[in-house]
Amino acid sequence: MNLYAQMTSVAEDDAPNRLLRGVAKDHYAANQRDLIRRWLPVAKWFDDRCESELDPYQKASLGPILPTVVGSFRNGRAFTGVNFASQDYLSLASHERLISASAAAAEEFGVHSAGSAALMGGCTMSQRLETALERFLGYREVTLFPTGWTAGYGIVKMLAQPGDHIVIDVLAHACLQEGANGSGARVHRFPHLSNSAIQKRLSRIRSAQPETGILVVTETLFSMDSDSPRIADLQALCTQYGATLLVDCAHDLGCMGDTGRGVLEMQGMVGKVDVLMGSFSKTFASIGGFVATQHSGMRTTMRACCGPQTFTNAVTPIQAAVVLEALNIVTGPEGTVRRRRLAENISYLRTRFLEHGFVTPGEPSAIVPVIVGDSATARLMTRHMIRGGAIVNLVEYPAVARGKSFWRVQVMADHERQHIDALTTCALEAREHWEDKSVANDGVTS
Ligand SMILES: Cc1ncc(COP(=O)(O)O)c(C=O)c1O
Repeated sequence: MNLYAQMTSVAEDDAPNRLLRGVAKDHYAANQRDLIRRWLPVAKWFDDRCESELDPYQKASLGPILPTVVGSFRNGRAFTGVNFASQDYLSLASHERLISASAAAAEEFGVHSAGSAALMGGCTMSQRLETALERFLGYREVTLFPTGWTAGYGIVKMLAQPGDHIVIDVLAHACLQEGANGSGARVHRFPHLSNSAIQKRLSRIRSAQPETGILVVTETLFSMDSDSPRIADLQALCTQYGATLLVDCAHDLGCMGDTGRGVLEMQGMVGKVDVLMGSFSKTFASIGGFVATQHSGMRTTMRACCGPQTFTNAVTPIQAAVVLEALNIVTGPEGTVRRRRLAENISYLRTRFLEHGFVTPGEPSAIVPVIVGDSATARLMTRHMIRGGAIVNLVEYPAVARGKSFWRVQVMADHERQHIDALTTCALEAREHWEDKSVANDGVTS
C-alpha cells in the first residue's frame, strides 16, 4: 500500500484527513466581507480537531503546576499524567515560600497596583524587585514590565526609530519580531545564529549610512531550537560597528549558569551586553518582564516614552513579591540544588530519547525539542501521548518548518526518573503505533 493509501485508511478508521493535515490559514475565509465571519471556519476547524483529540492546544490545568498534572481541553475533556507541558523550570510554581510571599504582599499592600508605572503604579515591592535585579544582573538600571512580551516589543520599538536599522535573528521571539515590524525601522533578518551574516549586514549598513542607528536583536537561548549565539563575539561586532545589542534571556535566566545568571554567565558576559531583557514566566513563577541597561535615566525615559510601559498597568505587589522571593531562592543554596537537579533531569531525558532513536536537536536546556515529523504523524502521536498520560506541547508548521513538527518537552527540577521514564515509554509506543502511517503533506488543503 502506498503512503497516501495508508494515510487514507488511517483517516477513515480514525480521523478525517482535513483534521490531520493543513494549517489554520487554509480555513480563513478571506473572501468574506465580514471581518469576524472570516475567522469562524478557522474556529470550526480547530474545534473539529479538538473533538477528534487532534488539537493539543489551549489546555488548562485544574490544579497546581507539578510534575504530574490534572487538566482539561477546551471542550471539557479531562486528562491527567506526567507534566512536560508547563514552563516552571525550577519547580517554583507551587513553592511554599512563594505562596507565603504572595499572601504577605496581598496582606500588606493589597492586590492591585492601580495604575501605569508612568503615573503611580510603582509600589514598594516593584521598587525592591528592580533594585534586587540590578544587583543580580549586574546592570545599573532595571525596568519592570507587566509581561516579558511587552518588555521585548516595547524596547525594540522604542530604541529603533524610522530611518534606523534592526538586524534580527530570523528565529527571534514573536515579541521582538513584532516590535521590529512596528518600529518603522528597516528590518534585516539574518540566518539563525550567524554572526558572519550579521557582520556582513553591519558592514554594508555602516558604509552606506555612517550615522544611522542600528539595533541587533537575538536571544541568549532560543527556546524552539535550544541553542545560543556566541555573545562575546556579537557584542564585539556591535561595538566595532557602533550598533546596539539587545538580547532576550527569557529561557535561561535563573535556571542555567553556576549562580543562575544564565547563558550570559556561562559565556562570561554578565552585565556586558548593551541591553538585556527577560521574562519571569519560565523560572520565576510569575508573569512579568524587565529591561536592563547600564545607563541611568533609561528607566525614567522608558516610563514616559515606551508604549507598553507607559500605557498599561504596572506589575502588581503580588507579582513583584513572588518574583523577589523566587530570586531569593535562585540566588541561595536551594537555587544551586534545583539547577543541579534540573540539569540531571535534562541529561537523563535527552539520553532516554536518544536511546529510543528520537532526534533531540540543540544544547541541553530546560526545553528539549523532540522531532516528530509531519503534521499528521505529529497530531496522531500527540493524541497517543496525552491519552497515555504523557502531557506534552506540540509545535507545528508554520511555527516550525514544514514536516518538522516537534514536541517541546519542558523539564522541571522536581521531575523524577519515573516521570521521565513514563514520558519516554509513551513516546516510543506513540511512534511504534503511528510512524509511517501518515504522509508528509503539511500545509496542503485537503
Ligand atoms: C524568548 C521569549 N521572549 C519573551 C517571551 C514573552 O514572555 P512572557 O511570557 O513573560 O510574556 C517569551 C515567552 O514565550 C519567550 O519565549
